[in-house]
Amino acid sequence: MELRHLRYFVAVAEERNFTRAAERLHIAQPPLSRQVQQLEEILGVALIEKGSRPLRLTEAGQFFLAHAKPLLDQVRDLKAMTRRVGKLERTINAGFVASTLYGLLPDIIRRYREAHPEVEVTLHEMTTVEQMQALKEGRIDVGFGRLKSEDPSIRRILLRQEPMVVALFPGHRLAAGEGPVRLVDLVHEPLLVYPRTPRPSFADQVLALFSDANLRPDHVVEVRELQIAMGLVAAGQGISIVPASVQGMHHRNVVYRPIGDKHAFSPIFFSLRHLDRSPELEDMLEVIYAIYDDYGLPHNRESL
Ligand code: BEZ
Repeated sequence: MELRHLRYFVAVAEERNFTRAAERLHIAQPPLSRQVQQLEEILGVALIEKGSRPLRLTEAGQFFLAHAKPLLDQVRDLKAMTRRVGKLERTINAGFVASTLYGLLPDIIRRYREAHPEVEVTLHEMTTVEQMQALKEGRIDVGFGRLKSEDPSIRRILLRQEPMVVALFPGHRLAAGEGPVRLVDLVHEPLLVYPRTPRPSFADQVLALFSDANLRPDHVVEVRELQIAMGLVAAGQGISIVPASVQGMHHRNVVYRPIGDKHAFSPIFFSLRHLDRSPELEDMLEVIYAIYDDYGLPHNRESL
């Protein structure tokens, strides 16, 4: 059995259709059908129910699919990591969600560069969902994001739980008050959430915050990205709930107030490929923990 058999079968099983699978694999349909037939002959069992439309897997087919997918993920990881090990120059490609740029990300990168000038660090802005795909394809080596993806080929290290704050126009009735705002006081305000796509996103984290508290905002407006949400808040079009680090943006017409509810936190994850134990990433983690210690920020501690 060759890797090719696994790739072809997984494409057919996921697309539930030979024509679409052949398109996805950029091959013609007859050789694809032959390869899947050959795989069934090698295994001596049927993987696809004869004549089923849309295509259905047999019990053996479902078992084979569940085990073939992680194997293919491992092969892809192995490719990306071997290329990384074989490179003479040392590099880190890091993906980050926009909000981290206004908080500790610049400190982290600066301090890492000072300590490790021989390593080239390149930054790429992308959502957490985009980071997962980029990690798997080897386009980035680490992702700083906020969502907990369940992808088995990606390892997530929870760095810390960052408090969320509410962003308001300075003339807003809640802008001048003292102490934390409660979520229940925000439900009648137009709520600006971002990013609109891809989902799930930070927008869903904010909406879950309300639903976990048995609350439902009257009017939710989805916008493309954080900067648009802040611009609309400044224009008095609504309020937005953002991680505390966004306060570093210092928007002229936006004020921030803490949120009192006990679930109003957004996690920050350090995501990497499951098998990756490279010293560059270990050093990066150490720099992050050192900065947390300097700022006295509560955090989790894990090593690679
Ligand atoms: C943080 O704010 O904790 C953070 C930001 C960017 C990368 C890693 C951590």
